[in-house]
Amino acid sequence: MAGVSLAKVRKTYPGGAAAVHEMSLEIADREFVVLVGPSGCGKTTLLRMIAGLETPTAGEVLIGGRPVNGVAPKDRDIAMVFQNYAIYPHMTVYDNLAFGLRRRGVPPEEADRRVREAAGILGIDALLDRRPRALSGGQRQRVAVGRAIVREPKVFLFDEPLSNLDARLRVEMRKEIKLLHRRLQTTMLYVTHDQVEAMTLGERVCVMNAGRIEQSGAPLEVYDNPATRFVAAFLGSPPMNFLPGRLRRSETRTLFEGRGFVLALPEGMTVGAEAFDLPVELGVRPEDLADDPQAAPQTFIPGAVELVEALGNEQLVHVLCGEARIISRREAHLRAPPGAAQRLVPRPDRLCLFRADSGSRLDARRRTPTP
Ligand SMILES: Nc1ncnc2c1ncn2[C@@H]1O[C@H](COP(=O)(O)OP(=O)(O)OP(=O)(O)O)[C@@H](O)[C@H]1O
Ligand SMILES: [Mg+2]
Repeated sequence: MAGVSLAKVRKTYPGGAAAVHEMSLEIADREFVVLVGPSGCGKTTLLRMIAGLETPTAGEVLIGGRPVNGVAPKDRDIAMVFQNYAIYPHMTVYDNLAFGLRRRGVPPEEADRRVREAAGILGIDALLDRRPRALSGGQRQRVAVGRAIVREPKVFLFDEPLSNLDARLRVEMRKEIKLLHRRLQTTMLYVTHDQVEAMTLGERVCVMNAGRIEQSGAPLEVYDNPATRFVAAFLGSPPMNFLPGRLRRSETRTLFEGRGFVLALPEGMTVGAEAFDLPVELGVRPEDLADDPQAAPQTFIPGAVELVEALGNEQLVHVLCGEARIISRREAHLRAPPGAAQRLVPRPDRLCLFRADSGSRLDARRRTPTP
């Protein structure tokens, strides 16, 4: 078992800008960390540096406290599962699993034990004699994960392992990877650009943007308390709504002046003096906006229904508020005909304020309530 540390690790490809900037990250022994971010933000580069497939331009990688910068990938005690898992088409499932072990000189009885154990964990025992073309996509994916398991590594690295699967299989494999972590109790670092995987899989999620970690924490903590507009917009589907405006002080309250409306901010929302001189954006998630026709002045965002997406379990009501489009998530059967006037009342404890220029959070962040 081993944790992973990155100490100011940087990667600049020849002729390119830095793909990963001075990144420091501690992954504890047995922890399950998900790195999430948009395409090109440096996720694969980071994993490949941990695996030893890419050399850091600067900084140090440690596995189990041991610096590994000069250590060959095969001697790092890690196993990586790639997006384009190449399983050998001409070999049976058994041989696909055993191949790497034989090459490493693992004795046949020991290799056989590990192959059968991994197959048992993944529920592919009955498929060991088949060739990959006779497997479903999900079964092939299991074989790819199995090849990592048989190595009994100290650390698993997953690079978007589910992105080739259809939506239903992805959900199923997501659950299995979570159970796998519970069962193996091994350190796992999982990379994805899928925010649902990030929210559901990890004990900790690190949101990456352009080669940097913008925020890291327990998934719900990051969701509830985004440090930046980027994080707020990245986690959540549909994403958080953002309304441009400015802040003003009245005698008793802080007021947000949006385009065509004024909203009194809740008492508990504290903002520094500098925020009053800046263009800002007010952020509120779709599930935190309810329509209340009786809402008092300065407690709501006015608008009109543009269209409704009925999803069966809920509906997404798109509301036009001046030029801004806002989405409000509601109970499936509440009526909201197109054109209907809306008074969208935000849940006061769920509002966020960001600087319009840098996207950094302006209001003091709340603590996530512990039940
Ligand atoms: N071998 C390379 N040579 C030059 N530039 C590279 C190389 N590999 C990656 N890059 C660049 O480094 C940046 C980070 O790439 P990386 O593959 O790490 O992104 P990613 O977050 O994994 O993206 P995706 O979600 O699309 O897989 C990108 O701008 C990419 O073009
Ligand atoms: Mg990648």
